[in-house]
Amino acid sequence: MRRMIITAACVALFAGPAMRAPAQEEYKLEIPAGLPKMRIPRDNPLTKEKVELGKQLYFDKRLSQDSTVSCASCHDPAKGWSNAERFATGFQKQQGGRNSPTVVNAGYHYFQFWDGRAKHVEGQALGPIQNPIEMAMEMGPLVERLNKIPGYREQFQEVFGTDVTEEGVAKAIGAFERTLLAGDAPYDRYEAGDEDALSESAKRGMDIFFNKAQCSGCHAGPLFTDGGFHNIGVSWDKEEPDLGRFTESNLEGDKGSFKTPGLRDVALTAPYMHDGSMATLEEVVEHYNKGGVKNPYLDEAIFPLNLTEQEKSDLVAFLKEGLTSTVYPQVKPPELPPDPKSPAGE
Ligand code: HEC
Ligand code: HEC
Repeated sequence: MRRMIITAACVALFAGPAMRAPAQEEYKLEIPAGLPKMRIPRDNPLTKEKVELGKQLYFDKRLSQDSTVSCASCHDPAKGWSNAERFATGFQKQQGGRNSPTVVNAGYHYFQFWDGRAKHVEGQALGPIQNPIEMAMEMGPLVERLNKIPGYREQFQEVFGTDVTEEGVAKAIGAFERTLLAGDAPYDRYEAGDEDALSESAKRGMDIFFNKAQCSGCHAGPLFTDGGFHNIGVSWDKEEPDLGRFTESNLEGDKGSFKTPGLRDVALTAPYMHDGSMATLEEVVEHYNKGGVKNPYLDEAIFPLNLTEQEKSDLVAFLKEGLTSTVYPQVKPPELPPDPKSPAGE
């Protein structure tokens, strides 16, 4: 009984602001060939107005403390929606120890971040804003800052029926990210019956990927990820390796485990791994070929593969050529709402 009462209360809470918001146009998500349907959270339906608002917030440096960093600084459409650097550079040029993943297809992931510390794109979006080495902005002052910009205040009223709120910022950015989809790669066309979509080398590489090397044991399904966490022995030859998922779960077996990244468009997002320690896909394949770096937590699916030179280059050909999408999100930075005019005399 108790549970039913709570559920009813939640529904009322979520339905409230949405019902007060004026009618908006539904955003029809176009899913590229090869990708699954996306589950859209019931409390954050996609509308054209919301996606447009999220896009502006995504590109707006005013979301960072000193107005120098936006989401696009580290997830740049021109760099595979990542940043082409080993580590991300954020507020006052500070760097963390982790590589920026692409945000393309992130709308499908349940777990976000290399260690899975956030869930869904909506649950992730406020993390980097507040992270002291990324955008270093507290949410209270940010909401206040955005509420002073008439263009944002009006759009929040239109979309959520409220002034700017934390929740609205997260939902709008999340909605925009859900529209960043890439697919219809040569692999998808081959799977759909087009024998000529892949070169002979990429076809052999595909066979190695799914069979001999068992890459698909973890890089599984249409997004090439099982959504799980594994220790594949990256950087265990360095002092104090990043413990990854363990820092979230505190489970001994999770030491050095990271979220399996999806591999679509992987050719566009070098360098690789949670710490950007591998510069090329050739290096990645070499890592797997030797069975990773030995450590007590290494996943049992990581073992020496004994691939020939030809097999290694075939596998790389599959990753590069086979998994690069022909449908890829091309987004130009939008026009942003102007700062408020300062009152006369100031
Ligand atoms: C200073 C660089 C930087 C900025 C700015 C930044 N990010 Fe990130 N982003 C990263 C890094 C680094 C990671 C991985 C961190 C980790 O796993 O611990 C990440 C992870 C993510 C992920 C998880 C993707 C996945 O597959 O797990 C998403 C989604 C994301 N960022 C979106 C955003 C959004 C939205 C913004 C703006 C509100 C933003 N980022 C701002 C660097 C940045
Ligand atoms: C046991 C699960 C597992 C298997 C098997 C596996 N991977 Fe991975 N893969 C991962 C995980 C986890 C990461 C991230 C590890 C890290 O950053 O420490 C990763 C990272 C990668 C990356 C880097 C992607 C990026 O965006 O940084 C590539 C490329 C890759 N794997 C390709 C392969 C290939 C090719 C094979 C087969 C030879 C393979 N993987 C087998 C789990 C696996």
